[in-house]
Amino acid sequence: MANIFIGGAWPYANGSLHLGRVASLLPGDVLARYFRAKGDNVLYVSGSDCHGTPVAVQAIREGVEPGHIAGHYHREFADGFKQLGFTYDLYTRTDQRFHHEVVQELFRKLLEQGYLYSRTVQQTYCETDARFLPDRYVEGICPVCAKQARGDQCDHCSTLLDPADLLERTCGICGNPPVERPTEHYYFALSRFQNELAGYASQAAAGWRENAVQLTRRYLEEGLRDRAATRDLSWGVDVPLPGFEHKKIYVWIEAVSGYLSASKQWASETGGRWEPFWLDGERDITAYYVHGKDNVPFHTLIWPAFLLGAGGLHLPDRIISCEYMTLEGKKFSTSRNWAVWLPYMLSRYEPDSIRYFLIANGPEKRILIFRGGNSFTATTENCSAPSATS
Ligand code: MF3
Ligand code: ZN
Repeated sequence: MANIFIGGAWPYANGSLHLGRVASLLPGDVLARYFRAKGDNVLYVSGSDCHGTPVAVQAIREGVEPGHIAGHYHREFADGFKQLGFTYDLYTRTDQRFHHEVVQELFRKLLEQGYLYSRTVQQTYCETDARFLPDRYVEGICPVCAKQARGDQCDHCSTLLDPADLLERTCGICGNPPVERPTEHYYFALSRFQNELAGYASQAAAGWRENAVQLTRRYLEEGLRDRAATRDLSWGVDVPLPGFEHKKIYVWIEAVSGYLSASKQWASETGGRWEPFWLDGERDITAYYVHGKDNVPFHTLIWPAFLLGAGGLHLPDRIISCEYMTLEGKKFSTSRNWAVWLPYMLSRYEPDSIRYFLIANGPEKRILIFRGGNSFTATTENCSAPSATS
């Protein structure tokens, strides 16, 4: 009997789910149902991504605590997935003790293996708000494609960014130009995995969506850079080291670890065993990772590097990375409040109609949605050769 692990991406709990998100996650549920029906041993997990600047920035906008935002949307997500008939074995959240402990254990292990090292760097700082501005707290112009971007990633050309890379930077809270100040952070030595990851990617890519193959090849060709693994933030998983009391572990490093923490949590809650889905050896394991295109490098490079660094854990085999959905030609975005929202769809359509539409049209094509009066129309567009700059 094959062991099938399916990891659905963890949506940020900073706003309602939109149809694009559901389209990107639905293949996971289809796979889970298929392999269970076939008699395989399936573990299908996910949860709400409760930390990071997406949630923290939304909390500032609404004038409430980040935990309040995260709790509110987590409940809405869990309810939406239930109405849509998603069959997760566990749908959990990252702002829980269980997850924090697994992440900190992984962090310590990588530190012991020498894959994390500290260094003092110049970090974007806002003198008006008297705070450092990591990731999405900074907005500006992408140095690669010259489009408007935020300091974590360019939505337009998929380049991974640091706030310092942006041109014409402004503070996302007050709009003033930031300055630079020194601060100490841990870095993850991603560059040391360059050869191992190139070998892994060239083998595993046979089971990946074309967009994942292309994007991953591009990052590898550009050369992997070490990435900051901690942030000057008050919301997130504590860095388990003295002197870092006011910092947190970077949300991406911590959220991808959710696949492992949720597996362990599922085991502890049900008496099941997580090991057959994770520990390499004689076992027959296939691991599916199901998410949107903007998540690709985190699942094909950063998470595999983590697993290699920690040692003995099974790497992703299949990458099911969905294309973006657009409304009036612009990519859906939760933080920019531009999308067709799931609660709205559920109030008007049968869940199975929504599922059918998305699975029949979505996975490998772009779904383009247009507004006409009170209704929406949709068309699809083939993207058989997705380019990195699409
Ligand atoms: N929260 C991220 C997003 O919404 C996805 C995280 S997937 C995880 O794009 F695996 F890292 F959790
Ligand atoms: Zn760009």
